[in-house]
Amino acid sequence: MTVSYPHLRLRRTRTADWSRRMHAETVLTPADLIWPLFITDGVEEEPVASLPGVSRWPIAGIVERAKEARDLGIPCIALFPNTPHALRSDDGREAFNPDNLMCRAVRALKDAVPEVGVLTDVALDPYTSHGHDGLIDAAGYVMNDATSEVLVRQALVQAEAGADIIAPSDMMDGRIGAIRAALESDSHINVQIMAYAAKYASAFYGPFRDAVGSRGLLQGDKKTYQMNPANSEEALREVELDLAEGADSVMVKPGLPYLDIVARVKQAFAVPVFAYQVSGEYAMLEASVAAGAGERDALVMETLMAFKRAGCSGVLTYHAAHAARLMGA
Ligand code: PBG
Repeated sequence: MTVSYPHLRLRRTRTADWSRRMHAETVLTPADLIWPLFITDGVEEEPVASLPGVSRWPIAGIVERAKEARDLGIPCIALFPNTPHALRSDDGREAFNPDNLMCRAVRALKDAVPEVGVLTDVALDPYTSHGHDGLIDAAGYVMNDATSEVLVRQALVQAEAGADIIAPSDMMDGRIGAIRAALESDSHINVQIMAYAAKYASAFYGPFRDAVGSRGLLQGDKKTYQMNPANSEEALREVELDLAEGADSVMVKPGLPYLDIVARVKQAFAVPVFAYQVSGEYAMLEASVAAGAGERDALVMETLMAFKRAGCSGVLTYHAAHAARLMGA
């Protein structure tokens, strides 16, 4: 016998707040959040114009943000350096300088706030004079295997500085395996790899490129290495490959427009999946609030819940501290 209206009334359990809470299928807590932070070599906080409410912080400020994260129950922060332009070069060699801005920040963090996880991005775009994530040949093509070798060196200096999670965002083929092998042989066996496995060539990264100072430098686009937004079968192949090479978790990026990818990946592999609610998504939400089109707190919480519902273990979001504060209220 099938039960149907009027015996079945789905609105019954939605009548009172206690009941709505009791029947919630998904929960969102501060432990679901990873907070991306931008580092400056300067001495002052530098607001990023295209990301209202987001700043680049000197290392001392990054340490303060990490303490804030700890106090809010946010488990992990993600770091992105705005490398001084004088240190950017064609070959991005500053990326594997053990005393670069990123490594100095990681050491300061692990010294002052060791209980907060530190995720470091592996890719060359904050270090190259052409703004690409890898090494380019004479035609401007990003070379795969040569880039991988540099990424391994970059990952090793980050691990040496104390990074807890290495997150390659470059989309070179084979780099997860190469980095995993290097970490194993260099006795960093417990350093995790979160692979930006399905990373799309997206128009939503603009404000991030302002924040790390690569927007004006980028020659051309990243379509020969980042994925075509038209594809999802290919995302599954990317994830499969990165897992086979030793990724501990995988990421889908951008976030909200790609929740179908999150759901497919989670269903197909049952591994920890994270999503990056990227800079353009943050800017879009803030612009809609500024235009009076929506209520900020409600929009933030609804978008973050949507990531969890789709199957995410966690979300990288510039709203992390604000959202955690809302959850504590
Ligand atoms: C660099 C990198 C990018 C982002 C994270 N790591 C930009 C890009 O690929 O051009 C974007 C994050 C954001 O937009 O918030 N490889």
